[in-house]
Amino acid sequence: MLSASAVRAAMRPRDITSRGLHLLKQMALINGEWVGAASGRTFQVMNPAENSVVATVPDMNAEDTQKAIRAAADAFTTWQDVTAKDRSILLRKWYNLLVQNQNEIATIMTSESGKPIKESLGEVTYGNSFIEWFSEEARRINGEIIPSPQQSKQIFLTRQPIGPVALITPWNFPHAMIARKAGASLAAGCTCVIKPAEDTPLTALAMAQLAQDAGIPKGVINVITSDRKNAPEIGKLLCQSPLIAGVSFTGSTAVGKILYEQCADGVKRIGLELGGNAPFVVFNNADLNKAVQGAMVSKFRNCGQTCVSANRFLIQDEVFDEFVSMICDTMKTTLVIGNGKDEHVTIGPLINDNQMRTVKNLVDDAVAKGAKVMVGGKTAEKYGDKFFEPTVLTNITEDMAVYGKEIFGPVVVCIRFKDEQEALDIANCTRSGLAAYVYSNDIAQVFRVSKKLEFGMVGVNEGLISTTEAAFGGVKESGIGREGSSHGIDDYIYIKYVCLGNL
Ligand code: SIN
Repeated sequence: MLSASAVRAAMRPRDITSRGLHLLKQMALINGEWVGAASGRTFQVMNPAENSVVATVPDMNAEDTQKAIRAAADAFTTWQDVTAKDRSILLRKWYNLLVQNQNEIATIMTSESGKPIKESLGEVTYGNSFIEWFSEEARRINGEIIPSPQQSKQIFLTRQPIGPVALITPWNFPHAMIARKAGASLAAGCTCVIKPAEDTPLTALAMAQLAQDAGIPKGVINVITSDRKNAPEIGKLLCQSPLIAGVSFTGSTAVGKILYEQCADGVKRIGLELGGNAPFVVFNNADLNKAVQGAMVSKFRNCGQTCVSANRFLIQDEVFDEFVSMICDTMKTTLVIGNGKDEHVTIGPLINDNQMRTVKNLVDDAVAKGAKVMVGGKTAEKYGDKFFEPTVLTNITEDMAVYGKEIFGPVVVCIRFKDEQEALDIANCTRSGLAAYVYSNDIAQVFRVSKKLEFGMVGVNEGLISTTEAAFGGVKESGIGREGSSHGIDDYIYIKYVCLGNL
């Protein structure tokens, strides 16, 4: 946890363009050099709360990406042989610098993502914990010696880095998703090309500057920036280049499927952390105060723009009205909409116009089909054009888009159910399977339901499950592989079997 004075220091409003924060980089990083795009093109990074320009960064394309791939491939020839202990020390140095500079990184993040400053600081702390964790894990990537069936042979299994990897990261966690992937890949002995989302490249560049300051050798981390229009060609090259051994992507299911297909030709290793559609199930016997508390954290973290956000609130008959009334009251008394740089704000803007349209259309569609608006329900224009009022909807029916789609916005969709089986049926009737939440005080029910939920992660009487120590990931169309925990290394290593014969 950050101390109160650290939080206050970061919250002091700063004009990040004129004050020239030293981590506000406006170039990309290839092979240890801060460079522009070969084409000379740039694009503007916007502050979604203010519609102002935060910075201008290179608008790179496949040509620039090729250079970054080459740099990562060259650096791999030596980085793979750096001892585990030395990799660990370098990651630790990076972690220390990230901690020292957490306020500045959080300020940059709030400017480009709109995230409230307290949450940005929370994300930096969360993200840093992955670098710390993997600096420790780097020294525990052990092999095995297995008894051989023949006396003349010895079987060794070693875990080796797969090679240079591409890390494609989203705008909703501009720091933590890079940290979760880069920490694991560097610990394993891989080098990387990072492609941050076009909305939030500045946090990535700040992190890369600190990696350089920590002494991580040139070419081990490369960051390329591009606007939306070049993203498909860059993604395709990262998936298809024979020099790239694996791809790790966090983002939408639609883009994840394209990358998966593009990786198939080279039979490339891929890790995917895609969209969710989390059910938040509240049984009659639940502690409703805890359920509302958990619902608030799960739903309103980053304005509902997280893959693990509760998306469908399934509330059992007897407690439905009480839960709805309690969450409406809590939202009215605790949520503060506004510019994320204001320390009191808890609900910032949505990331861009596209996201704004999606959320508005989902709510309008539900209302047109008979949903009842208990709170909110419309855009909050007085704060800016990307703000949406925290909303609660009831009278939900299956024909409404909110019933089946990931909302990625501050909208609580409440659905009534009668019994455990019905709750499970509704919860599981989706192709997504990332996170689910269950509130129940019946231990047998907790076991039954958490086992039957077709999701990679289940929070029981808990709305915030993300932590470095746990394995993060989904089933069905929510992804492949696990990030964080000791399993987070697996995407970046292969097992080599060496047979010593004629002993
Ligand atoms: C995500 O939304 O993609 C990640 C959320 C988390 O790590 O908690």
